[in-house]
Amino acid sequence: MSATRGSAAEVLAPDPPDPTWLRRTLIARQPLARHNPRAIRLVRAPGRVNLIGEHTDYNEGFVLPAAINLELRIAWVPADDRRVEIELAESGERGGFALDAIGPRTGSWVDYVAGTAWALQEAGVPTRGFRGLLASTLPTSAGLSSSAALELASAWALTEPPGGGLDGMTLARICQRAENAYVGVNCGLMDQAAEALGRAACAMLLDCRTLAWRSVPLPLDRYRLVVCDTGSPRRLGASQYNARRAQCETAVAVLAAADPTIRALRDVTPEMLATLRGRLDEETYRRCEHVVREDARVLETVTALEAGDLATVARCFAESHASLRDLYEVSSLELDAMVEIAEATPGVIAARMTGAGFGGSVVALVERGAEERLRTAILAQYPPRTGLRPRVFAVEVVDGAGLVPGA
Ligand code: GLA
Repeated sequence: MSATRGSAAEVLAPDPPDPTWLRRTLIARQPLARHNPRAIRLVRAPGRVNLIGEHTDYNEGFVLPAAINLELRIAWVPADDRRVEIELAESGERGGFALDAIGPRTGSWVDYVAGTAWALQEAGVPTRGFRGLLASTLPTSAGLSSSAALELASAWALTEPPGGGLDGMTLARICQRAENAYVGVNCGLMDQAAEALGRAACAMLLDCRTLAWRSVPLPLDRYRLVVCDTGSPRRLGASQYNARRAQCETAVAVLAAADPTIRALRDVTPEMLATLRGRLDEETYRRCEHVVREDARVLETVTALEAGDLATVARCFAESHASLRDLYEVSSLELDAMVEIAEATPGVIAARMTGAGFGGSVVALVERGAEERLRTAILAQYPPRTGLRPRVFAVEVVDGAGLVPGA
């Protein structure tokens, strides 16, 4: 089948939206930009994959995400009328709001911009109106955190100087607040932190309790990260996600009654959990077991990456996926099928679901030169198993959000 053959270039993530094109299009569509082209700015915000450490961030544990070159970009010109107006380059759809009268969420993509404006103001950061154009190669609903990318890009465009002179962690926390309190998803800090602070060619080991972090170089001279989007809609994603988080909080309350040193699942070792088993119902126990063991796997993966021990990385990925499937119960038939196909492809070192689950993407660590083989295997085997159209991207690991210089 020729559709499954393709050229090596087809597997590479598309180039991010071109700065010159964005600038020209903004000038063509926005009179304010036409009148003051020198005031035009451009911000880029990457997506992310999480290598390991799933559903650990809101349990004050460890995560190991990386920012990737599937990117969202906003070209904008500041406006003095306290209004924000954005157009989506692809569809021409427009959205906007008044900075001094931000209403409740509406269920559209504009919520992420309005929520960020609201969270900036709540944090005492002055906001400014703008006219903007948004273009993106970062798929939505693919578990690659396009929402955090939109929040971060908005935070840059809404402030003067862009980014408000705030450090990346502060911006990330403001964006998380937007998502928690305005959009209504009770997410942890991982996505915003990775997309704000990520470093090229490195994963980010983040301690979600202390917010201390460091870069972990990835062996990208010999291997690549490949993102495999299942193309399956995230059924009930937000409510299931919030439900998992609530279960963890209930478990902590029960465990803390037995051991007051426990403030989060981060404080629980597998041995402690086994001792306290009788206090939790079976399902809650399974959820806790995932979190507690996943935290240990993050640290094991970092040590293994630093030692070049990819067999251990592969084992940690496989254990993580199985645990998310069987204990935390956030995988799906599609994610499981994708992981199975990837694991059976020669040259694939490790594969697991990435992000919240309930659909979304798989991340694979693949030998350079085997990316196309993986794509071919997925295009041939995945649609007949699921009836869905997958997308496969070999991605670069890039820096976190920031202005595109010279644009
Ligand atoms: C989503 C959330 C993150 C994290 C992951 C699961 O991506 O936004 O905070 O909880 O799910 O690891």
